[in-house]
Amino acid sequence: MGAANASNRRRGTPWRGPTGRTEEKEGGLKTAPTREPHETAGGDTKWQAEEKNRRDPFGELRAGAGAPFATFYLETFGCQMNVHDSEKVAGVLLSRGYQRVERVEAARLVLYNTCSIREKAAQKVFSRLGGHRGAADAGQIIGVLGCVAQQEGEEIFERAPWVSLVCGSASYRKLPELLAELERGGRRVMGLDTDTDETFETEMTRRDNPFRAYLTIIEGCDKACAYCVVPYTRGPERSRRSDLVLAEVQRLADAGYSEVQLLGQTVNSYKDPSERRMTFAELLVAVSEVRGIRRVRFTTSHPRDFGRDIVEAIESVPALCEHVHLPVQSGSNKVLRAMQRTYARDEYMEKIAMLREARRPVSVTTDIIVGFPGETEEDFQETMSLLDEAQYDGVFSFKYSPRPNTPALHMADPIPEEEKGRRLAALQEKQRGIQTARNEKLVGESFEVLVDGAARRNSQWAGRTSGNRVVNFTSTEERLLGEYVLVRITRGGPNSLVGELVS
Ligand code: 5AD
Ligand code: SF4
Repeated sequence: MGAANASNRRRGTPWRGPTGRTEEKEGGLKTAPTREPHETAGGDTKWQAEEKNRRDPFGELRAGAGAPFATFYLETFGCQMNVHDSEKVAGVLLSRGYQRVERVEAARLVLYNTCSIREKAAQKVFSRLGGHRGAADAGQIIGVLGCVAQQEGEEIFERAPWVSLVCGSASYRKLPELLAELERGGRRVMGLDTDTDETFETEMTRRDNPFRAYLTIIEGCDKACAYCVVPYTRGPERSRRSDLVLAEVQRLADAGYSEVQLLGQTVNSYKDPSERRMTFAELLVAVSEVRGIRRVRFTTSHPRDFGRDIVEAIESVPALCEHVHLPVQSGSNKVLRAMQRTYARDEYMEKIAMLREARRPVSVTTDIIVGFPGETEEDFQETMSLLDEAQYDGVFSFKYSPRPNTPALHMADPIPEEEKGRRLAALQEKQRGIQTARNEKLVGESFEVLVDGAARRNSQWAGRTSGNRVVNFTSTEERLLGEYVLVRITRGGPNSLVGELVS
């Protein structure tokens, strides 16, 4: 895509799409595929070693006693895309000689990577910023990154005049420049450009999760869902070259990662800008074939662009994980139309049928919004009946939250909060029953589990199956973290499984 093309499409044309899931869970039913690493999640040795081995050309200049900011604190809100953006931002800072600190009071440069998908998430950021009123006196520089930065722009300087940096994700490629400006004493530094066809490339990414490496393959979103603020915060759709993606996957494998997760707001809308013109399904296969890679995941898929070739790839390549996250949002055709989702219920259900008929048992999860303007009890019941039909393995469900700039903001017939709450609770209760029944059926089966957690109580371990189900088991083995083990399921709960080690 050329720059001119991107601009033409951009101006006045919102780009939008579904997005991630670790943000505030006010309405979220936390199901098996939820727990994602957060910025403050524990340490790991692989990347620390990587970091130490790296020669830092700026280190002496900046990290020394007279360095302007030297230390940074970075807190992340929102989806996996944001979590991964933060990993890249941290990489940029570390390679400029900054040192990371875990306590906000200890940092010279304080950064918040923000989320505005629902109102509560955005509010959280302003409450954090409120705590930095005396930043200048404390010798701190405050920066706001991500979706709230993009959405509120200069307004942030008005609401919180002690903020010095405001930068949306579509401008991260300019971060080194913006940081240099701050280092020179810049007071109000901004990166709010969304008119771009470039992706955020970093030489160094400081990954937080030692077991699963995130990798963005497509940024932004060109869809136009009526409720979604992402179109105004993340820029137009831009894919990374397949050769760059594959080279990074090889580097990750060489660094010891065996699982990668390809990210994008609409990951399956991937369009290879290189001469190879790989389709998304071809890229999935190529990534799975990289030496050392044992598991490949991808999220989030848009139903519109979800084709049989993806299912065929999952069927034929064992390293491709047997899990697809396919947000439906509503079971009512009327609401789907109002949401501008570009598919009807039966078209969506055809994709589900394709997945359910696959030669491997693919687990399917979804996102649902209740209480979209104009949603009647009848419409809601259609969503409930869709749950019965689709038999999801996990559902993230949310009360509709009106967002600035979105077409849905002024739609007629808003649903009262109380009624939204009632619908959400009913939906979650129903889905809980479905999940419990599905998980109970797995008792007696054995799954390969990548162990990624040790519980507080002794000998308790947790990991994930290829289908992204959480499995807890007991073992007196001392070192299981990061290992692939076989676990036989002994019990199924609504959100996780319990099992025993087979090997
Ligand atoms: N209100 C409620 N939920 C929303 N989502 C996106 N925008 C909104 C909104 N305005 C949900 C969608 C999306 C998920 C990441 O967040 O279900 O798929
Ligand atoms: Fe992620 Fe931004 Fe969406 Fe929040 S609004 S979930 S940060 S993309």
